[in-house]
Amino acid sequence: MSGPAGQPEIGVWGCGRMGSALARALAVAGQPVVVATGRPGRAATTLAGVPGCRATDPDSMLRQATMVLLALPFPVALHALRGPAGRIGAGRTLVDMTNPALGAGQPQNAVLGTGDTLPPSMSGGELIAHAASGWRVAKAFNTLSADALTHWPADGGPVCVPVASDHPSGRREVFELVLRLGLHPVDAGGIASSREMEAMAVLFARISSRHRLRGQIGIHIGRSDRVATVGEVPCPVSR
Ligand SMILES: NC(=O)c1ccc[n+]([C@@H]2O[C@H](COP(=O)([O-])OP(=O)(O)OC[C@H]3O[C@@H](n4cnc5c(N)ncnc54)[C@H](OP(=O)(O)O)[C@@H]3O)[C@@H](O)[C@H]2O)c1
Repeated sequence: MSGPAGQPEIGVWGCGRMGSALARALAVAGQPVVVATGRPGRAATTLAGVPGCRATDPDSMLRQATMVLLALPFPVALHALRGPAGRIGAGRTLVDMTNPALGAGQPQNAVLGTGDTLPPSMSGGELIAHAASGWRVAKAFNTLSADALTHWPADGGPVCVPVASDHPSGRREVFELVLRLGLHPVDAGGIASSREMEAMAVLFARISSRHRLRGQIGIHIGRSDRVATVGEVPCPVSR
């Protein structure tokens, strides 16, 4: 699958704070990107001047992208993936970065049909993986804020990006993408780890708000016995 210029393109679904920040970061890293929203004209304006980045509608993006990064509010994403979009992956990788709890109370949550909360002992990542049965779903980037993506590097060493998936090849693909962004992937296990990753994002948001950091913080997971990042050489991929 490739875009109009014949180059493989990664799809970013959503052009809000996170979608546009990721699209820019990928384009800067030399990765062609196709961004999808219901308002491609507006997205094209937002991303004007970013080389290697174009905007289209979700159906076109889903047909063309080699891999898709899901940057929609969680209930909107779940609703979309419970329809035909969830079945047309043909084994491609879908990266879920949603944080259901951070959107609690927003009107889109009516889509979930369970009030403002997830079912007990269930994460958004697991629900997305269940709905998107045609895709190799990985949870990643939900612990990284759009502001940190834009303003890094900071003083604390590489930013770690936990990646959770039940699909080793999907996890490997996300690892490569994270590395291309200058970030550090960490194997967080299967998709069930989405529960802890989503809780971690809530803690991050609380710390950010309490200390007025405006999202400009990131995780660094280091080892105590030497100054190194977990999984530094090479990042382990589950078999
Ligand atoms: N912001 C962060 O720092 C951050 C960090 C990690 C993870 N995330 C996750 O990434 C996802 C996107 O977050 P964001 O901050 O980028 O959100 P946002 O700025 O509000 O952008 C949401 C995007 O979803 C689209 N959308 C489609 N249907 C929608 C609907 N019914 N209601 C609202 N938006 C709709 C919007 O399209 P239009 O442009 O057409 O309105 C927009 O492109 C969320 O799941 C969030 O939890 C965010």
